[in-house]
Amino acid sequence: ATERTLSIIKPDATRRNLTGKINAKFEDAGLRIVAQKRIQLTKAQAGEFYAVHKERPFYDELCEFMASEPVVVQVLEGEGAIAKNREVMGATNPKDAAAGTIRAEFAESVGENSVHGSDAADTAAQEIAYFFSGLELVG
Ligand code: CMP
Repeated sequence: ATERTLSIIKPDATRRNLTGKINAKFEDAGLRIVAQKRIQLTKAQAGEFYAVHKERPFYDELCEFMASEPVVVQVLEGEGAIAKNREVMGATNPKDAAAGTIRAEFAESVGENSVHGSDAADTAAQEIAYFFSGLELVG
C-alpha cells in the first residue's frame, strides 16, 4: 500500500551540505518527498519528539545534538514507504549499515547518524503530525 513516513535529515548531515545527496537516495528508491522544511529544534522540542527514549542513557546527548544545528524534516511517500525508507537509511549504527545505505556512506557515529525515519505505521502518523499540518502535505 502507499504509505507516508517521517524523515529527519540530522544536524551532522545538514552541516556537511548532504541534504541533496540524501534526498537523491530517497528519490532514487522511489520515495516521493511530499513535504519538507528546514527548521532548528529547541532542546525541549527534540525531547518531546524523542520522548519514547527518555529513559535511555543517550537521551540528553541525543536531544542536545538534534537541537545543535538545523534539521530538515520531511514526509516521504511511496509503496511500503516506512520499510523502504529504513532500508535506504541502513542500520542505526553506521558500523552495521549495509554498503550503499545513507548511514554507511554518511553517518559519523551511532548518535550522529545523519537521518531518522519512523519505525512503524502508528509512529509515522504521530511523527508526521508533530511537524506538519494536513495543508502542508502535497502528494
Ligand atoms: P533515530 O532513528 O533517530 O532514533 C533514536 C536515536 O538515538 C537513533 O536514531 C540514534 O541516533 C540515537 N542513538 C541510538 N543509540 C545510541 C547510542 N548508543 N548512543 C547515542 N545515540 C544513540
